[in-house]
Amino acid sequence: MTSSPIRAAPVRLEDVTKLFSKEVVAVDQVDLTVEPGTLVTLLGPSGCGKTTTLRMIAGLERATSGRIFIDDEEVTRLPANLRDVTMVFQSYALFPHMNVFENVAYGLQVARQPKEAIRSQTLEALAMVGLEGLENRATNALSGGQQQRVALARALVMQPKVLLFDEPLSNLDAKLRKRVREDIRDLQKRLGITSVYVTHDQEEALAISDEIVVMNLGRIVQRGTPHELYSRPATRFVADFIGSASFLAGHYDGKAVTIGGFSFPHQQETPAGEVTVMIRPEAIRLSTDRAGLETTVRSSSYLGAVTDFVFSSPHGDIAATIPGEGLTPLLRDDTAYLTFRSAGIHLLPANDRHKNPDS
Ligand SMILES: Nc1ncnc2c1ncn2[C@@H]1O[C@H](COP(=O)(O)OP(=O)(O)OP(=O)(O)O)[C@@H](O)[C@H]1O
Ligand SMILES: [Mg+2]
Repeated sequence: MTSSPIRAAPVRLEDVTKLFSKEVVAVDQVDLTVEPGTLVTLLGPSGCGKTTTLRMIAGLERATSGRIFIDDEEVTRLPANLRDVTMVFQSYALFPHMNVFENVAYGLQVARQPKEAIRSQTLEALAMVGLEGLENRATNALSGGQQQRVALARALVMQPKVLLFDEPLSNLDAKLRKRVREDIRDLQKRLGITSVYVTHDQEEALAISDEIVVMNLGRIVQRGTPHELYSRPATRFVADFIGSASFLAGHYDGKAVTIGGFSFPHQQETPAGEVTVMIRPEAIRLSTDRAGLETTVRSSSYLGAVTDFVFSSPHGDIAATIPGEGLTPLLRDDTAYLTFRSAGIHLLPANDRHKNPDS
């Protein structure tokens, strides 16, 4: 740990497929590289193959075909206990009959480390996750957040080359989830351990990741930094899955986008012609004059710092988040003219009608 810094290792999957049966293709020809010391999140709807991918990296599931490398060494057929990888689960999987110290020390004991080393490393791991002083506590006398920290300490104490997380926060309430995810991120950065993190919570993925890999139906749909995926989603599926957006039919001439009769400047490497215009809610401004896309107010909810509106137009509904109350209080059925900031606009192919299966 701090005394012996972890040498960050890359993880690589080459054309990895997992069939559970002829019909169930859980993971379908996945190529994935995780750079040393980075945290990459697998994000996608239920059943898209996230856990199976993680379990194949851990060695808990055998790939049907393809190759897996950890630290440039092929591990495709190596048993889990020889891979130098540890996994943190959603259910903390703590040993109920052991106290906090014993839970964290267990792996080192199995590895027959000297007693003094076990003691110092275990206490160090507990300090890292902020549990110093609780080593003699029974695990069933801990809060959910504390239990998850014990699970994290138990993984860290092994000084693995790779840390794997499978929805580690989903048993925690919203506030705690935020705090523990920041702790995980801090620790991961500080220790520089290559990590693969699985979640289906897009906000969690945006907050914690160096890179996000969006999966659907066993395949990788797109990978990129949180900012890349949010601002330049490759498909409507990704745009829908990360953040929220409205999609309107429009036309692009290389310099400006036209929706209905209203045009606004926008530059993007995409062929001119018919397009689907993705509009993020924060990209919308209310126009004070009639220069803008004419819509009517369908609904509005005042949320304090912002007001959420849905505007309807002949080209489709548009969801908007406007700071404060907007310019003047707008009521249902009022006419509103909208303008768009280019930063929250992204053009997709006109025929991209892919719907998010969760929505
Ligand atoms: N042991 C198994 N035997 C048969 N099919 C399985 C097995 N494990 C997973 N599957 C199937 O493989 C596919 C991918 O499952 P996986 O658990 O990887 O999804 P996931 O993305 O982790 O989903 P979730 O978000 O619900 O955890 C699903 O269709 C699932 O039903
Ligand atoms: Mg899963």
